[in-house]
Amino acid sequence: MQLGLNDKVIVVTGGTKGIGRAIVEAFLAEGAEVHFCSRTESDVKSAQSALQSAGKAFGAVVDVSKPEQVAGWIKKVAESGNGIDVVVPNVSALNMSNTADGWKSAFDIDMMGTFSLVDAALPSLEKTKGNIVTISSVSGKEIDFTAPSPYGSFKAALIHYTAQLARTLAPKGIRANTVSPGNIYIADGVWGNVERGNPELFKSQFEKNPFGRMGKAEEIANAVVFLASEKASFISGTNLVVDGALCNGVQF
Ligand SMILES: NC(=O)c1ccc[n+]([C@@H]2O[C@H](COP(=O)([O-])OP(=O)(O)OC[C@H]3O[C@@H](n4cnc5c(N)ncnc54)[C@H](OP(=O)(O)O)[C@@H]3O)[C@@H](O)[C@H]2O)c1
Repeated sequence: MQLGLNDKVIVVTGGTKGIGRAIVEAFLAEGAEVHFCSRTESDVKSAQSALQSAGKAFGAVVDVSKPEQVAGWIKKVAESGNGIDVVVPNVSALNMSNTADGWKSAFDIDMMGTFSLVDAALPSLEKTKGNIVTISSVSGKEIDFTAPSPYGSFKAALIHYTAQLARTLAPKGIRANTVSPGNIYIADGVWGNVERGNPELFKSQFEKNPFGRMGKAEEIANAVVFLASEKASFISGTNLVVDGALCNGVQF
């Protein structure tokens, strides 16, 4: 399928590893120009050099909890060439601590990190009639092992915020959708850490996956790339759950 993403300019937060890295690679495979960030300079440099052979990939050191850093980065990207076609706010604090500090961190990183990226990119997205793909989680729609904590609460807020964007930005030709991953296994990521640090929790969660496996980062990336593409030109305001039928609830 030709997705029509060749030479489109894509921005992905948290692109050095995990799901974000897979999203960067999937857009590069479609011929897009991809700008990604993380907080760790050495990781940004090594990701950028590893990705050079895959296409036009540009890394930046940006902390999404700092709106001025996000705005400065987006201004540079927008002015560097052909504007911005797609933004993917992918970073989460992954904070499951039910404390005041935990809630504040999730607000600053999950909610405000997403808002800051969208807010900074909107003038560019208006010009390109671009789109937004936010990253939530099945923890946003179900009360799961992460409760009680800010994680699922802010993931739910992101779904609502994205639906608001879809409805209010449609007259400007801008689409907005969410992808909600289920359990995605990455050896140096969340589930790899749980497997090593809390094997009992890992086993109990693993067994809930009816396919007998957790998902792969590229399975999330494929959904993001599709929603961002011209092939999804009339899809806006949706929450695409990519969980291998993990959730029990029926989504209408
Ligand atoms: N893995 C799963 O099973 C799963 C399931 C459902 C939803 N999700 C969602 O998928 C998204 C990605 O998760 P993941 O598992 O791929 O995470 P991950 O493996 O921990 O990767 C996180 C990425 O974000 C960067 N990052 C973290 N905090 C940042 C900040 N404040 N500013 C800029 N960059 C930052 C990290 O680099 P630095 O640390 O160097 O900054 C890294 O590149 C999240 O929204 C998560 O909630 C994941």
